[in-house]
Amino acid sequence: MSRLRSSRGQSNPRPIYAELRAMGDVVPAPWGGYLLLSYEICDQVLRSRKWATFDAAWRVRQGEGTRWSAPAAQMLSHTLQGLNPPVHTQQRRSLGNVFDRGTLDDLRGPVTRLTDGLLDRLAGQLRASGEADFSAIVGEELPVATMAHWLGLPAADHDLLRSLTHGQAYAQELLPSASQLAQANAAAAGLRDYFTAVIRERRKALGIDVLSQWIRIWDEIEPDRDRADETLYHLVMFIVIASLETTSTLLSNTVWLLDQHPRQLSWLRARPELAASAVEEVLRYDPPIHLTTRVATEDTVLGGFHIARDEVVHVMLAAANHDRAHIVEPDSFDITRTGGHLGFGGGIHYCIGAALARLEATVLLESLIRRFPTLRVTAPPTWEPRVAFRRLTALHVAER
Ligand code: HEM
Repeated sequence: MSRLRSSRGQSNPRPIYAELRAMGDVVPAPWGGYLLLSYEICDQVLRSRKWATFDAAWRVRQGEGTRWSAPAAQMLSHTLQGLNPPVHTQQRRSLGNVFDRGTLDDLRGPVTRLTDGLLDRLAGQLRASGEADFSAIVGEELPVATMAHWLGLPAADHDLLRSLTHGQAYAQELLPSASQLAQANAAAAGLRDYFTAVIRERRKALGIDVLSQWIRIWDEIEPDRDRADETLYHLVMFIVIASLETTSTLLSNTVWLLDQHPRQLSWLRARPELAASAVEEVLRYDPPIHLTTRVATEDTVLGGFHIARDEVVHVMLAAANHDRAHIVEPDSFDITRTGGHLGFGGGIHYCIGAALARLEATVLLESLIRRFPTLRVTAPPTWEPRVAFRRLTALHVAER
């Protein structure tokens, strides 16, 4: 794990995953629990009712003073990702088909306008100084601007939302340090203040926006207004934090990986209709979330190991996406590849924002190859030293 966190491991974790994969489909972790490395087993665990997410009851059973009792971790157990059926089913259904075709059609125009504006800024910076940080100007901005547009949040709040999301992500890290957990706890408090105020304000003037619709739905489901607001807070807050870093990493990583594979980039320039397929390959090759975790709901056997109820398994999504037993030549980056991947998870917790992330990345990539035909990366990106949620912190580009 320390190799994965090192700058070398961050820039290319694939050899480390290959070493782990060579040890088996399921590998006991030195700190307890198991790493799941084969595509088949990861997929099976995500889809099976025998495996649950670590909800509030599981966290209580771990006792006080563990990372699971930290406020930021406890907060997560009330979000979609920390809920199990039937509560999960009820909350997820209440949102409806969040990004159905009509919503995506409505969002395409605003996402295109926001992308154009950010690319104007990138062009201005390149003209002024010959080089620009793509991640800061575009990668980090487009997801928060899109989310704020969709939910009707002020542009002045973009920086705050981004920084709270960065802090909160540490609570989802594989083995967070005490200082990382402290950052996550502070962010969790900030998120609560921010989103409870958003819901309170929105209630004063319900409109036809998506958040107003969710408020109406929860007022029908839950007669107790305080409980309805508590649920709404967890739903909206989690949708925002789940969407920002992940999509930012996808956008910047798309630029980086295409730069690293110039033949694929030339092919894409010749066939821009492959943009969506190129985005899909980035999601497979280096997904923004490298692992997620599940717990056993009963004593079971997995990959030859006896696993007791409540034991933890880490579903290594990025390693599974490179499993040669499932994917042909998994280490070659091929934008014409077809077939699935686990970049958005699977089963009942499958990402609700997958279609929006794909829309943002595809619109951006199509515009980039049209407007910046000679854009090149000038230095390898820098990465936050994390294992679960990838975060690319700088990506310098220039026109050559
Ligand atoms: C490239 C961008 C994204 C990636 C790679 C990604 C990845 C994932 C993954 C792997 C999961 C499943 C986690 C698990 O099984 O434990 C997930 C769940 C989720 N994602 Fe995303 N996500 C992205 C963007 C978004 C966006 C844009 C939104 C919202 C607009 C979003 C909202 C959610 C929510 C609410 C869940 C929890 C669903 C549930 O537990 O039922 N994500 N995402």
